[in-house]
Amino acid sequence: MRIGILGSGLMGGKLGTLFARAGHDVVFSYARSTRKLERLAREARGSARAGTPAEAASQADALLLAVHWSRVDDVLRQAGSVSGKTIVTCSLPMNASDTALAVARTSSGAEALASKVRRAKVVSAFGTVPSEVLFSVFEARRRKARPSLAYCGDDARAKRVAARLIRDVGFDPVDAGPLKIARYLEPFTLLIAQLAYEGERGPELAYRFEWRGR
Ligand SMILES: NC(=O)c1ccc[n+]([C@@H]2O[C@H](COP(=O)([O-])OP(=O)(O)OC[C@H]3O[C@@H](n4cnc5c(N)ncnc54)[C@H](OP(=O)(O)O)[C@@H]3O)[C@@H](O)[C@H]2O)c1
Repeated sequence: MRIGILGSGLMGGKLGTLFARAGHDVVFSYARSTRKLERLAREARGSARAGTPAEAASQADALLLAVHWSRVDDVLRQAGSVSGKTIVTCSLPMNASDTALAVARTSSGAEALASKVRRAKVVSAFGTVPSEVLFSVFEARRRKARPSLAYCGDDARAKRVAARLIRDVGFDPVDAGPLKIARYLEPFTLLIAQLAYEGERGPELAYRFEWRGR
């Protein structure tokens, strides 16, 4: 698939690299330096290049949105038309001081995003794990017991695209239902962040759901 990365920081840089290593065509966009985007593309060691958000969006089969909540409007404006596109978002709706969810309970960042880009198909995925764990999950992808990754969305085709990307990175995709379930996924991420960044065992943390008794 052709994947456009909107926001090439900790999450976008790493996920874009892993998508390229899994065989996808990746365009890294939206960082404060073009040289950083070019370095990411070089080091991805796959089919990857640097581009503008508009270039990342124009040919993409899927877009990864990985920016701070305060940058969403700016990156979408730069991306231009995303009509009909699958947008996989890992962006959490954090407030400016990164201390709390700015959208929660009766809505979610993913739903707020979907209302900004009504003609795109939004899937919430990848936001529930710290960037620090992504490479080790990818390296262990041939092991039988993969970590889970919960995702949600309203469009079945877009969800299939997201599930494939989740598998390509080395997780076991867990379909959590429609996009409004992001109201549960996003606060769950705060628990993961608490364990990863305030716990004693460090940020290389993934999770695994197990269904017993069947
Ligand atoms: N980090 C995690 O482990 C993690 C886990 C789950 C969810 N999330 C969510 O994922 C999203 C991305 O997080 P992140 O940690 O990847 O953020 P990040 O490392 O700060 O990356 C954000 C990207 O946006 C770019 N950017 C910011 N301001 C810009 C501007 N004015 N012009 C152009 N580019 C600009 C940054 O450029 P530079 O590269 O130049 O800084 C960077 O490439 C957030 O919503 C976060 O809540 C993060």
